[in-house]
Amino acid sequence: MNSNVRPDSMARITTRELANAFIDEQIALIKEQVGDKKVLLALSGGVDSSVVAALLIKAIGKQLVCVHVNHGLMRKGESEAVIDLFKNKLDANLIYVDATDRFLDLLAGVSEPERKRKIIGGEFIKVFDEEAGKLEGISFLAQGTIYPDILESDGVKAHHNVGGLPEDMEFELVEPVKLLYKDEVRVVGEALGLPHEMVYRQPFPGPGLGVRCLGAITRDRLHALREADAILREEFDNCSLSKKVWQYFIAVPDMKSVGVRDGKRYEGWTAIIRAVNTTDAMSATVEEIPYEILHKITYRITHEVEGINRVLMDLTPKPVGTIEFE
Ligand code: XMP
Repeated sequence: MNSNVRPDSMARITTRELANAFIDEQIALIKEQVGDKKVLLALSGGVDSSVVAALLIKAIGKQLVCVHVNHGLMRKGESEAVIDLFKNKLDANLIYVDATDRFLDLLAGVSEPERKRKIIGGEFIKVFDEEAGKLEGISFLAQGTIYPDILESDGVKAHHNVGGLPEDMEFELVEPVKLLYKDEVRVVGEALGLPHEMVYRQPFPGPGLGVRCLGAITRDRLHALREADAILREEFDNCSLSKKVWQYFIAVPDMKSVGVRDGKRYEGWTAIIRAVNTTDAMSATVEEIPYEILHKITYRITHEVEGINRVLMDLTPKPVGTIEFE
């Protein structure tokens, strides 16, 4: 039987009991596959890699080596949250690599979206490869491949994600959630004790804020984007919109306009709010946000974020737009 095909008899994991049974079964399989050898995992902080990390920590503890590469394009507080959870709370063997300068130096002056993605993906592989090269005795590579990755591509999540790994790495793969759908991965994640916010977090592209900082990325505009995005997320949490809206974020184009601040001319960037609902990410509708909340977000962003003097809302559904504003 092809182990990449989900058997018809496999029940959809919807309850804690089913999740626990899955976890027990996988722990036994992982132990059997890995023995006393070491496993390497690129831990992005996304749902899939986090669930795989938690599962492997439970199965083999310190035999798992997690590498978290901060490409400098994470949302505010995201790398810190990964370190806090995995290193401090779960006592994982975690290597943290702050590669911000490498990525931002390479991206300087590059405005074309696909080129930016290629640079970020390529550099990610290089950094990860370098870290792997420093480690001794690694025999396995764990990946957060899930069933839709197998159905939609050739089974290698790497191809559309910054979790992409060098093709010449000669490790045997450990992919414990490869037959699960996303909703099942989340149920398993909660059963493993991962925080609800992490397990139900909204999708975030592998190249991170790099796709939302339109045009050539500069450090100051990227910083402004990250701060504005954090304000949007905080306000959506405050009024529980975060529970109603599937994906929401700020994009900041490479464009300045004239404004006034403290009675003086003030040229600044424009922050664009995007908030959409979808079930499958193939099409999306724009969520109506009460004006009162939009006014508050606009006030906070224009008063608290250096460099931003205007806030707009994107009202474009998908199609014609995409969910991302790239
Ligand atoms: P678009 O913008 O194509 O996005 O309508 C559809 C969904 O995919 C997410 N997205 C990504 N997810 N790696 C990912 O894992 C990526 O490189 C990537 N790019 C876009 C996007 O956020 C949306 O949810």
